[in-house]
Amino acid sequence: MFEKLKNDTTLVIQRSTNSTNAMQEICNLLQKLVPHYDWVGFYFKNGDKRELKLGPYAGEPTDHKIIPFGKGICGQVAESNENFVVPDVQAQDNYIACSLTVKAEIVVPLFKNGENIGQIDIDSNTPDPFTEEDERFLEFVNQKVAEIL
Ligand code: SME
Repeated sequence: MFEKLKNDTTLVIQRSTNSTNAMQEICNLLQKLVPHYDWVGFYFKNGDKRELKLGPYAGEPTDHKIIPFGKGICGQVAESNENFVVPDVQAQDNYIACSLTVKAEIVVPLFKNGENIGQIDIDSNTPDPFTEEDERFLEFVNQKVAEIL
């Protein structure tokens, strides 16, 4: 599944003329085709502020359009520069709940020229669904997106 999605992602990037549209298309693809991806979105550093701003996403609308650095899983990744895999969101103290149906989350930072400028965030309604395959795949997606940012 991820090999095909890597090809799809590469194609979307190759024919992209607009990075926002390309990211939207990638969110739609991933949310539709990966059974354990229920919400897929990008957050980016909001100018010079120490906060993240919601970018393109697929899934239920969220109230969390702005997330301060350090807050929630996303805000922690903005500071740590490392992947954060959460098998059980209820076991996390520093977590921002978007929907009661969400059981697990993965956040992978997006680097441009070595700088952590944003992230891809996936919510899953399946408990403990993420493996290293998800991490490698999402790192690939972010590298591709970085090419057009
Ligand atoms: N759960 C995230 C907030 C963003 S929503 O999942 C869309 C967090 O704890 O950072």
